[in-house]
Amino acid sequence: MEWNSVLATRNARMKASEIRELLKLLDQPDIISFAGGIPDPALFPTEAFRDAFSAALTGPKAGAALQYSVSEGYKPLRDWIVAEMGKIGVPCTADNVLITSGSQQALDYLAKLMISPNDTVLVGWPTYLGALGAFNAYEPTYDRLDPNTNRPAADFTAKAAAAGGRVKFAYLSVDFANPTGETIARSAREAVIDLADEMNIAVVEDAAYQTLRYDGEAIPPILALEIARKADIENCRTLYCGSFSKSLAPGLRVGWVCGASEVISRLVLMKQAADLHSATTNQIVTHHVASTQFDAHVAKLRKTYQARRDHLLKALTREMPEGVSWTKPEGGMFIWLTLPERMDGADLLAQSLQTERVAFVPGRAFFADGSNGNTLRLSFSCGDEAAIDEGMKRLGRLIASQP
Ligand SMILES: Cc1ncc(COP(=O)(O)O)c(C=O)c1O
Repeated sequence: MEWNSVLATRNARMKASEIRELLKLLDQPDIISFAGGIPDPALFPTEAFRDAFSAALTGPKAGAALQYSVSEGYKPLRDWIVAEMGKIGVPCTADNVLITSGSQQALDYLAKLMISPNDTVLVGWPTYLGALGAFNAYEPTYDRLDPNTNRPAADFTAKAAAAGGRVKFAYLSVDFANPTGETIARSAREAVIDLADEMNIAVVEDAAYQTLRYDGEAIPPILALEIARKADIENCRTLYCGSFSKSLAPGLRVGWVCGASEVISRLVLMKQAADLHSATTNQIVTHHVASTQFDAHVAKLRKTYQARRDHLLKALTREMPEGVSWTKPEGGMFIWLTLPERMDGADLLAQSLQTERVAFVPGRAFFADGSNGNTLRLSFSCGDEAAIDEGMKRLGRLIASQP
């Protein structure tokens, strides 16, 4: 079969990344990896989940746990999310919440809802690679949104028109972003609302790491700031994507999107058509674990990850040669390094895997235009102190040896 002739045009945008082959080598035991960007499995609340699965599958309720259920999601879980959203300044009801299979599915659905080919999405430079992957299937173009921009709305609009569509939404990873670890300041969040109001576009707020703050003061989500201005979530253009992946466990694939009920009901229809609903059992056990120990568990995660972040920052200060700079995140899992301009993160990874056996993610893939090759992402979530020390010693040595 010659498959190319039957493929939809969207496939042209869905490419395996050049670094995937390199990252396959990470399973080798002698590699010190800062590439992952995943939670430390040793910190999963495994026993709580075991008990919750056992309870869900015992007695008369087992039938419901294994049965089809509603597309909106398990109501007690939506109610729990409503209460949590209220605590961060987002008063809402269960009609404002759709449970998705991870927040990744929310990104896919929101793109499916809004992007026609050649429409423009405003994204950070760099931004979450998985968001670009989700959006690409709907054939958008991208324009750069710096949260502190003073680029006028007309400039974005004109550029989008020249690309053959209009700007549909701005996507922002607000707290401890993947890949940079940076947090968008309150004033910049307010400015994004102003810009979105002026352009009449939606704001997709990715809050995947929101619970993992180690220091500094929490900043209200963009959705909370918008509700403070407009009185009611039903008047808001921000769609908040939340996740249990970083706070409890990613393997259950439970996330949510919270926003105006008009949008949520459209997304419910989309979910019905795509996968009917997220796994019933997983939603029930997530509710059980979240409602019994969410705060205590997250407190434990914060303490452990904070120590690892501090350790990596110290090791960077000690080991990196002059000309290398990095972010100092207040939470999350990532630190972002900028190398001297003549260097390239992908070349460095290829060398590193051969000689120093240290892995990281080269930064270029996080830029919608493939620029800024002199960057890389380090994750500290899974590193123990000795591995962080040794890994940074080797990486510093490799960078210092570059011509
Ligand atoms: C910024 C960001 N958003 C969304 C996701 C998707 O997470 P999930 O689908 O597990 O909720 C990730 C995963 O790493 C992420 O880093």
